[in-house]
Amino acid sequence: MCRAMTDDDRTDIDPLSLLTWYQAAGVDAALAATPINWLERGASPPGGSYAWPARGDQPGSQVTEAPARPAAEPQRVITPSPAAQLHSPPTRSRPQTPLAASEAETDARRSANAATSLDELEAALRAFNGCTLKATATNLCFYRGAATARTMIIGEAPGREEDLEGKPFVGRAGQLLDKMLAAIGLSQADVHITNVVYWRPPGNRTPTPQEALACRPFLDRQITLVQPDFIVALGGSAAKELLSVSEGIMRLRGSWRNVPIAGRDIPTLATLHPAYLLRTPAAKQLAWTDLLAIKTKLRTK
Ligand code: URA
Repeated sequence: MCRAMTDDDRTDIDPLSLLTWYQAAGVDAALAATPINWLERGASPPGGSYAWPARGDQPGSQVTEAPARPAAEPQRVITPSPAAQLHSPPTRSRPQTPLAASEAETDARRSANAATSLDELEAALRAFNGCTLKATATNLCFYRGAATARTMIIGEAPGREEDLEGKPFVGRAGQLLDKMLAAIGLSQADVHITNVVYWRPPGNRTPTPQEALACRPFLDRQITLVQPDFIVALGGSAAKELLSVSEGIMRLRGSWRNVPIAGRDIPTLATLHPAYLLRTPAAKQLAWTDLLAIKTKLRTK
């Protein structure tokens, strides 16, 4: 956790060293010109008692911070309907309390299920304000690859490169993923690649269960529209979310399990995340076994 810098701290510091230090500490994006003390916001999540910059705001613009309020007494803003609250753009002047998880989920599911194409689903996601990650992300990362595909690949969350480009798996892990797929004869045109959450978590942290839950109706609808023969879950976080289990990836990987989605049982294979393989090249042997299982599945299904 970082203490905010005072003017005294700043006087003799070389700006480049400061930026390097910030980056090493995981601070790699400027959200606002003035610091926000997250410790003062109590139990209310982002988008709650604090107003966020509107999507198009530039880093240099002034962001107004709404006064903190006691966590025990959330002052809910009265809005015409939950749907209007979820789908209206974030406002600076009228802080809102996000919907309760179940209410948000119901509304997200209604909005996701109304989409009859991936374009409509993307539009619904762009209008959706029920996942707090949206507030800190630069871009929505919806999918990369084919619109319909036999193989659907689902990772954890967009990282920095993905956030900047607005597409999943375009950074180093994505490049390794492409090489892994090429090794079993698959190109981007053969697969549909997405993530469990559609916006980058700050500092590349693992998405929280609430964030995954908020995005889940859209992911379920996406799976229905893509109609994959099977799903590959990359890494522990995606595997746990999709398989609804709590075991670690080393126990989960390598065996097919059926996941019920929209009335279909979809065979799903968990495997190691390419980012993990970049850090742990010795584990590529296990990943190769899993890739061969995918290749076999493609031949037999
Ligand atoms: N890691 C992921 O899980 N997803 C991406 O899109 C990029 C890196």
